[in-house]
Amino acid sequence: MDRRTFIHASLANLGALAFVARLPSEVFEIPGKTRPGLGGQMEGAPTGNEAPKEFNLVAERAQFEIPSRGVFEKWLYNGQLPGPEIRAREGERLRLTVRNNLPEGTTVHWHGIPLRNAMDGIPDVTQPPIPPGGAFTYEFDAAPSGSFLYHSHFGLQPDRGLIGPLIVEEKKPHVAYDREYTLAITDFLAGAPVPLGRAINAGGAKMGMLAPPYVALLINGRPPEAPAVFSVKSGERVRLRLINLSGATIYRVAIGGHRMTVTHTDGRPVEPFPVDSLHIAPGERYDVIVDANTSGAWPIAASPDNDLPAARAVLRYTDSNELKPREGTLPEGLTGGRLLQLGDLHGIDLPELRKPNRTFNLTLAGGAMKPGGMMAPAGPGGPGGMTGEMLTQEWTINGQAYPNAAPLEIHQGEAVRIRLVNESAMPHPMHLHGHFFRVGNVIKDTAIVWTHAGRVELDFVANNPGAWLFHCHNLYHMEGGMTRQVRYV
Ligand code: C2O
Ligand code: CU
Repeated sequence: MDRRTFIHASLANLGALAFVARLPSEVFEIPGKTRPGLGGQMEGAPTGNEAPKEFNLVAERAQFEIPSRGVFEKWLYNGQLPGPEIRAREGERLRLTVRNNLPEGTTVHWHGIPLRNAMDGIPDVTQPPIPPGGAFTYEFDAAPSGSFLYHSHFGLQPDRGLIGPLIVEEKKPHVAYDREYTLAITDFLAGAPVPLGRAINAGGAKMGMLAPPYVALLINGRPPEAPAVFSVKSGERVRLRLINLSGATIYRVAIGGHRMTVTHTDGRPVEPFPVDSLHIAPGERYDVIVDANTSGAWPIAASPDNDLPAARAVLRYTDSNELKPREGTLPEGLTGGRLLQLGDLHGIDLPELRKPNRTFNLTLAGGAMKPGGMMAPAGPGGPGGMTGEMLTQEWTINGQAYPNAAPLEIHQGEAVRIRLVNESAMPHPMHLHGHFFRVGNVIKDTAIVWTHAGRVELDFVANNPGAWLFHCHNLYHMEGGMTRQVRYV
């Protein structure tokens, strides 16, 4: 029996507890999940005949405290930010009951899982919104394995805090590891999200803004000055599941003193590829392996494409006396070294690429202001007595802004290609519901189309009938029109 097989979860947890007592109060140790080694693990009985694994999510108003910054009114799942981690084993049946205690409708989308259309959680497309006081039960198979996310798909609700990680453990990982952690990266609003734009009030004053006013970037709900701490032991191989649950922020992620070996993107396995940093956009996931062979306390940082300080966590060796990285140090990988390019990756068991039966050429554009509704009328409780026309940012695909946009119509069984070009001044992480696609030599469900006429080609097979969404995963671009339906006809 080797050491990996020997580690027992409860022993590891005892170790973690002991460390909590020694850490300064501003750091928060995350208990890791140890893996009792490949081969040493109990294979569950075939799940076909088993009862579904049940989860309950309550969408509710809740107070969320960021240490030393204050208490904020959020809308959360089960009072947590990020929402509770939903974890299943590959192939297990999941039954998730969502109760709506919010003052408006809601739905939940299980991002990346190619489930049947009726479970996809799109208001007025796949289901009526769950009304306040109501509930809805989603049921689907946790397959394939991978790191996923779930979030409200009702307007800008994800930026209230209605987001969380969804992990489907593989039966046989293609890369061995001793321990794993989930890193959920979020951008945090102090108040309620509003569409981006400007309003001119009667006095001619401009209101509104062109970027969401995030106040902090968090990893697992912790701000940079009081980061989550991930403990490792020298010699371990640690799997980090990086999940970008942000509304609008793209990050460059790196770890001080360590390279990251990319093993999965959007849950799908790739040939292990070592890098110093990688970009991760809203909706994307990267699983990486870190070889713990440089003792100390190291920063894990996610540097944003906005002006906020980087999101931070700590990789801490339990055999080191250092409790936290030196103040202010950022990983060298954020400014130098090897930055992952999508073309570096090669998927495992890639299906052969079929010649497309149907091709869509789509131009992403926008950012201009369009009249978009009215400010709330003046009156008691109104927003400062403002009235006036509201201008909102419009984002388009081939000049059309959803919902005033033609569906992309496809037939069952077709090989479909989508060719994207970005003519706008912002990057767009484009996400397809209900299907994985091939981009380059990997399988993903969300792919960034960079600025300066960035181009991306996505190929997928129409094998999951229904009405699905294809949209930018920047919430404000999605809501501003950069969305289409992909409809089987
Ligand atoms: Cu994660 Cu339509 O989104
Ligand atoms: Cu976008």
